[in-house]
Amino acid sequence: MEILIRTDSAAVGATAANYFAHLIRNKPDCVLGLATGSTPIPMYRDLISMHENDGLNFSGVRSFNLDEYVGLGPGDENSYWTFMHEHLFDHVNIDEDNVHVPDGLAEDSNEACRSYEADINLAGGIDLQVLGVGTDGHIGFNEPTSSLASRTRIKSLLERTRQDNARFFSSLDAVPHHVITMGIGTVMESKCVMLLATGDNKADAIAASIEGPITAMVPATALQDHPYAILVIDEAAASELKLHDYYVEVEHNKPRWQVIDR
Ligand code: F6R
Repeated sequence: MEILIRTDSAAVGATAANYFAHLIRNKPDCVLGLATGSTPIPMYRDLISMHENDGLNFSGVRSFNLDEYVGLGPGDENSYWTFMHEHLFDHVNIDEDNVHVPDGLAEDSNEACRSYEADINLAGGIDLQVLGVGTDGHIGFNEPTSSLASRTRIKSLLERTRQDNARFFSSLDAVPHHVITMGIGTVMESKCVMLLATGDNKADAIAASIEGPITAMVPATALQDHPYAILVIDEAAASELKLHDYYVEVEHNKPRWQVIDR
């Protein structure tokens, strides 16, 4: 795992956007794995600005989102489909046909999950998957006790996650109980995974994910087993890390040729 510690959420977003831009420039038909929630918003803002000001070209890019609420879809203001269009897709030149968000309105959800996995494979797999992390350590919507080998499927949300996400809805009752999410096994097949975390409410989850034992009780710990996992976190989210200074030193001494964030 590579741990990159930044001052605040804007700096986390800038680093993550630099990695994404680097990939898009070097592989114009790359496959991106995307996440919603508050954490990646600064990264999406920076990518839009790179598109507008530096010509970052999304025309060949393909994307797969991690998850969607069951019962919500393109017409709903709280769907992740809508979130992605508002925060990224409507502002860059990505081809709508290349954009994939799990179908929360599918009549046959199991089939929708199977075909989502098939579509990822057909695209050649995900090159770079961005992740947030829940206060309970979830990635995607793989809640604690999710199988570390799980594939795209329907999951029930923990009450804590529904409460965390209620800020986007009119009330807690309006937050769906069920979601479609890529599995942990699906995420682990991405060539590179980049987890972003900001704020002191993520500090315990981050400490457990980086320095705790691998366990299905903290799904993000699975990334310890990934050959190319990068965690970009702000000082608040890093505040419980025992080896904080070591991670800073490692980055400081990184050979120049390894540096992507400029
Ligand atoms: C979103 C997702 C979730 C969020 C996580 C953190 O697509 O899969 O795992 O990344 O719940 O959410 P925020 O960033 O709002 O704290």
